[in-house]
Amino acid sequence: MRSRRSVLAVPGSNPRFLEKAQTLPVDEVFLDLEDSVAPLAKEAARANIVTALREGDWSGKTRVVRVNDLTTQWTYRDVIEIVEGAGAFLDCLMLPKVQDPTEVVWLDTLLTQIEKTMGYEVGRIGIEAQIENARGLVNADAIAGSSRRLETLVFGPADFMASINMRTLVVGEQPPGYVEGDAYHYILMRLLMAARMHDLQVIDGPYLQIKDVEGFRRVAQRAAALGFDGKWVLHPSQVDAANEVFSPAQEDYDHAELILEAYEYYTTVEKRGAVMLGDEMIDEASRKMALVVAAKGRAAGL
Ligand code: GLV
Ligand code: MG
Repeated sequence: MRSRRSVLAVPGSNPRFLEKAQTLPVDEVFLDLEDSVAPLAKEAARANIVTALREGDWSGKTRVVRVNDLTTQWTYRDVIEIVEGAGAFLDCLMLPKVQDPTEVVWLDTLLTQIEKTMGYEVGRIGIEAQIENARGLVNADAIAGSSRRLETLVFGPADFMASINMRTLVVGEQPPGYVEGDAYHYILMRLLMAARMHDLQVIDGPYLQIKDVEGFRRVAQRAAALGFDGKWVLHPSQVDAANEVFSPAQEDYDHAELILEAYEYYTTVEKRGAVMLGDEMIDEASRKMALVVAAKGRAAGL
């Protein structure tokens, strides 16, 4: 499983940002052809992205390109030009505004055809599906199960809030007047369930107030606490916070490794299923929770 704690959005129309992105310590970059690129700049952006993928140094990062959504005229050419031009230098395509499983099936089929034509390994390029409106959320279970190429569901909060008429302009923050709880809880949990049902990762979208790193951290923490794997970052100022929030705390990681060690010893040497570790009772379920924290900690290099 790839690490996706920090997922950097990079407009494909800006060669300077495509350069700079290579130097940032993020787990994933996605080079964008969609909403950060103006309609008249889309074609040039495709060429910039192909060059950046082929010639750039992206080592250590998962390389993703976000194509335009299927209601536009651009998607098929986005896919063909990017994958024919730089398919061997690409890990996944991100499909935005997915509303229905047939959209992912379309992309899967097109990718297979291009892979065969180009002599690439069939099925290597993965898919990330962005869920950005009510229809996508209601269909999230079917979308998550629609292709073996799918690696992650991605929440698109800006488009999503617009599509449901949520009364706020600040992405990720609570709508003014809503004092009962967390207006995002249902959406995040719904996506998490759909993703985990099919063993996919699930990623939170952008926080637009790039100067407010504390706000970013607070909103990221909310998704991380539920079990999300990472969050988009739009600016270098958000990168360290994302990597930190989506890694386990050192103390939790150490504790998880201790549980695994103790449990291994007691179940195999002493043949006991539930045992005490200090003041804490641990059993097979504790081992599973510890495995999750330990895997994330090891991936984060703790
Ligand atoms: C991202 O694409 C969003 O709409 O928030
Ligand atoms: Mg969007």
